[in-house]
Amino acid sequence: MFSQLKQRPADPILGLSVKFKADSNPNKIDLGAGIYKDENGITPVLACVKAAEKFRIENETSKAYIGSAGSALFNEKITALNLGDHSVISQNRIRTISTPGGTGALRVAGEFINTCTPGGTIWVSNPTWANHQGVFTAAGLTVKTYPYYDYENKCLDFPAMVEALKQIPKGDAVLLHACCHNPSGMDLNQEQWREVAEIARDVGFLPVIDMAYQGFGQGLDADAYGLRLMADTVDEMIICSSCSKNFGLYRERIGACSIIGKDSSSADIISSVLLPVVRVNFSMPPAHGAAIVETILSSEELTAQWHVELKEMRDRISGMRHLLVDKLVENGVTQNFKFITEQNGMFSFLGIDKDQVQRLQDEFAIYIVGSSRISVAAISPGNVDYLAQSIAKVL
Ligand code: LMR
Repeated sequence: MFSQLKQRPADPILGLSVKFKADSNPNKIDLGAGIYKDENGITPVLACVKAAEKFRIENETSKAYIGSAGSALFNEKITALNLGDHSVISQNRIRTISTPGGTGALRVAGEFINTCTPGGTIWVSNPTWANHQGVFTAAGLTVKTYPYYDYENKCLDFPAMVEALKQIPKGDAVLLHACCHNPSGMDLNQEQWREVAEIARDVGFLPVIDMAYQGFGQGLDADAYGLRLMADTVDEMIICSSCSKNFGLYRERIGACSIIGKDSSSADIISSVLLPVVRVNFSMPPAHGAAIVETILSSEELTAQWHVELKEMRDRISGMRHLLVDKLVENGVTQNFKFITEQNGMFSFLGIDKDQVQRLQDEFAIYIVGSSRISVAAISPGNVDYLAQSIAKVL
């Protein structure tokens, strides 16, 4: 059976990390996968995480099964982090489960939607995270795209987005990025969120909000603005969130899938459908990452420390956006890259072509995704000169 298999291409993002590791160039820079790095190029374990782990080691009393929904305390804390004190919580209309990372949340959401509407359609932005298409297709859904980014003018194509959303058939799902759009870094402003939420309500599509970067844009509450507004406006929606980036828990695989129903009894039914989706997939989520997050969010002191560490990461990325643009100018680049400073989160599109992306890799050992997406979070004062010089050379 296996002898019939054909070699498939490597993952467009994870494949780069493999190539990067094998590259012996001492100047190499990995701007591929979205992983935060500090000034020294290290992805640190946050101090609040270390403290929470220490606490867990000393206080954990059992490793017994935890159930398909995962830790109830984590689920409660992450729901409050995403939604604040939103009325969907007091009205008991939301059900949250822990998942293996944000990807696990998306897959569970996809399979849940497929249970509601077998072979149904989900619309994703063009462009979107390279894995969205695969995750939703694997869940049995049909994936279509709506316009989002204006490649030529390097900004959001909001009029085209709105026109497309208005045409979406009632009952289809629409994936929206809560903040720090991956890959473009271009987010909706508050007014635009209001318009999109009203369209969702009027058209009757199901909003599925992917929040992988809460706290990496403008701040924890500001980044959740659109999501909370959407929850004010529609009766039903899904939130997929991740603790990979904001808690730096990448390899622990911890995220959450929250589903909001019309009322408390529909939320109970939702839960009865959602849990078997998990049971036949991975049975129950891993517990360690959830334990870290709930420990931090249950302690005022650790939460305060986390806020400081999160702000440090956010500010560093924002500083690197400005530094890169300055260095490009210093290196004689006349093309306008100012848009990089206007974007949010880890990513930006450079807007260079595939050959230039390949030259950066082959000649300069600079690894970026084929779409010309760079992870700004991996730029540092130590590598920015070499990066700007190399980009100037391929332009
Ligand atoms: C990214 O987009 O680089 C990250 O979300 C990591 C991943 O899993 O692709």
